[in-house]
Amino acid sequence: MRHLMSPMDFTVEELDALMDRAEDIKNHPENYNHACEGKTLATCFYEPSTRTRLSFEAAMINLGGDVLGFASADSSSAAKGESVSDTIRVISSYADICAMRHPKEGAPLVASSRSKIPVINAGDGGHQHPTQTLTDLFTIRSLRGTLDGLTIGLCGDLKFGRTVHSLINALVRYNNIKFILISPPELRVPSYIREDVLCKNNIPFEEVKSLEDAMPSLDILYMTRVQRERFFNEEDYLRMKDFYILDKEKMELAKKDMMVLHPLPRVNEISVEVDDDPRAMYFTQAQYGVYIRMALILTLLEAAKEDKDA
Ligand code: NCD
Repeated sequence: MRHLMSPMDFTVEELDALMDRAEDIKNHPENYNHACEGKTLATCFYEPSTRTRLSFEAAMINLGGDVLGFASADSSSAAKGESVSDTIRVISSYADICAMRHPKEGAPLVASSRSKIPVINAGDGGHQHPTQTLTDLFTIRSLRGTLDGLTIGLCGDLKFGRTVHSLINALVRYNNIKFILISPPELRVPSYIREDVLCKNNIPFEEVKSLEDAMPSLDILYMTRVQRERFFNEEDYLRMKDFYILDKEKMELAKKDMMVLHPLPRVNEISVEVDDDPRAMYFTQAQYGVYIRMALILTLLEAAKEDKDA
């Protein structure tokens, strides 16, 4: 049974095939209207979400399938103390594929080990968010034509931001990638990313505090929100929440073809005045998330069928 826990679960060739498929879906959505008829997606979300859950549901609806699920731990039997292992065993008999978000790192992995249907990690604590990464890669490839030779600035909460961890993991496999990691010292990337991913793969990177200084050299600026829910105390959050605010003035320092991405939700880190700048691509990115999730659902359901037929 094939699941998706981390972007590393796909080879670069498999990622390419997935993105080719998403591109075809984007260009010819009408060809996919019935692709998943009779199939059901379960969305099991133990943590808040707008885009990820609804884009999964939109993806399955666009494929002609059905959706069921819950949007918070409070409204599921988790509130009564049920384990994810028990929940997924039951869901396996109600649905054909499951997207799960959980505040505990590794919970979707535990679920996948008990599941009879493909499980997709839709975000586990501060750890990974592979489908956001697929969205990010697809957006960059689709709009820039390549994932090679880019200088990528990751800015904000690089410690708790799971989208950043997954994206670094995925991008180090492309050619001539350079990272500029822009954060307050307290919110630097965890050492398991710095040492085990960046240093180990000899990827050039700098850790800096100033967004202004980094701006002129960037091809992509990936802004992130300070992850309030993962802080141990509110005072630290309040001190750091407005550390970076991308505004028109800072955008003037950037290349003419630089691209601003953000997994969303945005809080204060991108001023709304930037939204009209042609380089602001975060709303397009959210839209592209539906195409890549359609491609992912199709691919995992095909793999599950092959498994069953074998
Ligand atoms: C991200 C997440 O949940 O990690 N949101 C999303 O899925 N688009 C980013 C965030 O919450 O800051």
